[in-house]
This record gives sequence, structure tokens and C-alpha cells, in this order.
Amino acid sequence: MSPFSYRDGVLHAEGVDLRAITREVGTPFYCYARAALTERYKAFNEAFAGVPHLLCFAMKTNSNQAVLTTLARLGAGMDVVSGGEIMRARAAGVPGERIVFSGVGKTRAEMALALRENILCFNVESEPELEALSGIASAMGVTARISVRVNPDVDALTHAKISTGTYANKFGVPISEAPRVYARAAALPGIEVTGVDMHIGSQIVELAPIEAACTRLADLARQLIAAGHRLTHIDVGGGLGVRYRADDADPPGPQAYAETILRHLGALGLKLIFEHGRLIAANAGILVSEVLYVKKGAAKTFVIVDAAMNDLVRPTLYEAWHEIVPVIAPAPDALHSHVDVVGPVCESGDYLAQNRALPPLKAGDLIGVLSAGAYGAVQAGTYNTRPLVPEVMVDGTRWATIRARPPVTALIDADNVPSWLAQD
Ligand code: LLP
Repeated sequence: MSPFSYRDGVLHAEGVDLRAITREVGTPFYCYARAALTERYKAFNEAFAGVPHLLCFAMKTNSNQAVLTTLARLGAGMDVVSGGEIMRARAAGVPGERIVFSGVGKTRAEMALALRENILCFNVESEPELEALSGIASAMGVTARISVRVNPDVDALTHAKISTGTYANKFGVPISEAPRVYARAAALPGIEVTGVDMHIGSQIVELAPIEAACTRLADLARQLIAAGHRLTHIDVGGGLGVRYRADDADPPGPQAYAETILRHLGALGLKLIFEHGRLIAANAGILVSEVLYVKKGAAKTFVIVDAAMNDLVRPTLYEAWHEIVPVIAPAPDALHSHVDVVGPVCESGDYLAQNRALPPLKAGDLIGVLSAGAYGAVQAGTYNTRPLVPEVMVDGTRWATIRARPPVTALIDADNVPSWLAQD
């Protein structure tokens, strides 16, 4: 169930009237529902209740410390992709033993940090990375536990920019090369092979690609075990999609996913690791914005709002659809018309929705952009000198600001004008 619903004709986040938050923090702002994060995390865990497993939340999705703390307190691990994310995970109380480290470009400093934190596993993406890690671990006198991220060459049937599991993508080691790379890893000092890893893409709404990739991964795991590698876990990545459009069918949920995974990987008896992010966070968040102007053009009507592509880049970057709803429920018989919902940024790509059927909106109205809890705030920037928007979390009838809106002066003061420039 969505945490965002109308009560007495006003959109609420759990038990909190979104107008009340608006009055205090102003617009735009992101709002996350703690109960929804909790409920999604638990639903996933229940689907795998019978088998040893760990859900490492892909914190690139939403790395606010309050969100991480919510999940960490439920026992979640974290999938990190940078030294900064390791530090965030640790600050949220996630122990190293629940952290896996993914990404094609880990720096030596990040590897050293991860080794100091004694993380569960490095998901190694190339042979040069393996060599670098071996060198650093040896020099530090420690051992790096690793999986090789294999690229199973399966098309995840998702948007090109978020598909990662084919040979056209930069990710992983081709599965055909994996046995050789594993043999090499096992022979390197400072390296201990403990797992196998993949991640084929994001917003996957069909189980067929996951099934195809699991079949290949299971074959590889069996081959590696036969070759004498002592595997303890298998990491199938994340990627399970969510529903963005109100009139779309629900994509396969944790139960159907678990059936598929366990059918192919259950018999291996290895601990299962997952790296889902969107599944947990997307529908737990909303972006609230105010209508500034309604501009009737020659060919189109533009609803100009105060949130823009720098706050939520998904519509323009991935042609993503986010439902947009007025905070005050429209009359049941309100006539819908087609409009573009656009922001103030000076680019034609600055839109939140195009040609969208919406009820009448006027200046001063509040709108909610749904499914904004994943890849929303984390992908925001300050283009056009627009400060990052605040984030709040609701929990039943209470709420708190979990990141304040910085003053514009913070942006200006971050720059440095050299004294020689000022003096010339
Ligand atoms: N593991 C790895 C190694 C990943 O690269 C990703 C996402 C995940 C896990 C989590 O995938 P999820 O469960 O959230 O689908 N910004 C894009 C999505 C980029 C996904 C990048 N990698 C978007 O807004 O749709």
C-alpha cells in the first residue's frame, strides 16, 4: 500500500498532512515514509526466510543517513560503490561484515579504507582491479575477500542507460573468462575467493532475464566449486523493478522473484546476497513542489513548478514516468487536460512530465511527484545555482527534517576567488 494517500481530500504521507511540512520547510522537498521502507525491507526478507541470505541495500538509491539508519536497524547490509558510501554505511551503524563493495573504478584509497573496515566482500570487476587489490591487501598484511562480478551477457530488457549485463556494457568480467580469472585470483597473495557476483540492470520488470542470468551463474558456481574454490555466497545483484505508472500492472514482487532465484540457486547451499535498492526505496518517497505559473503556449500548456531537472533528473535522463498528483484532491468530475509539467531551469529538457493528463492546476497549488524515493535526491545537483532541496522523513504522525535546505550563500562561499584575480 502506498504511504501517500488522501485523507479528507488532502494528500498525506502516512499520518502527516503534506501542507504542514510545506509550511515549515517550503517547496520543493523530498519526503520519505519510514513505514514503507520498513515494510518493503521486511517483505523481501520474508520471501527468503527459509534460506541464509543478506539484503545489502544499494545505497546509491537513497543515501540519506536517516534512510540508512532505518534499514541498518532492521539488519540490512549495504552495497556501496565508493569510499564515501562506505563512510556513510559505517556512520549509520552498518558493520563491515554487512558491506559489499561494487563498481568498476575503485581507487586504491577506497580499497584501503574498505580493507580497514574489513568488509564482507569486494565485487571485483576486472583483472587490473584484482591485481591492485592484491597489492594493497598484501602491503597492509590483510586478506581481501572477493567475488568476481561476472557479466552473463543477458539483456535485462530495461532502459539502455540502466542495463548492465551485456557485453556492450563496461561492467563485470565476461562469464566465459570467469573460470580463468578465478584461478588467477586464487593464486594471488592477499586475496581470498569467497563468492560469485552479478548485476544485470535496474528496473527489471520481467523475471525471464533474471532467470537466464541465474542459470548461467549457477553453472559457473558449480564449475568453480568443482575446480576447488571454496565459495560461501552468491550475489545476484539488485534490479527488481517497481510500478511507476498508476495504470501499469505490478511487476513481479519478492515472492515470485524468490521462487525463481531459489529454483536455480537454492540447491547450491550458498548464502544468497542481494543488492536491491529501488525495490525498497522508490515508492517510499515523494517530491513535493508548488505550481509557480500556468503558461498557455501556442501549442501546449506548461505548468511551471518550482522543482526542476536538477532536483529530479529521471524524467529527462531516462524518459522515466513519475505519477503527478495534486496535494488537494481534485473534484471527482474534474476535467483533465494534457500539459507539460516543467521546472524553472533554462533547458528544454527540464520537465517532470510531458503531455500528461492532469486535473486543473493553478499558481500556488501543491503537487506530489510519486515514486521519488530512489535515484531522486541522490542524483540532484545545483545547476542554475539552485540549492539541493530538503529531505524529510515521516513516521506515523511525526516527521523531521533529515536534511535541511542549505542557503544559497553556501554555494557561493564554496567557491574561491584567487586574491590575484581580485587585485588585478
Ligand atoms: N548493484 C549494482 C552493482 C548496481 O549498479 C545497482 C544499480 C544496484 C545494485 C541497484 O539496482 P536497483 O535494485 O536499485 O535497481 N539512476 C538510475 C538507476 C541506476 C542503477 C545503477 N545501478 C535510475 O534512476 O533509474
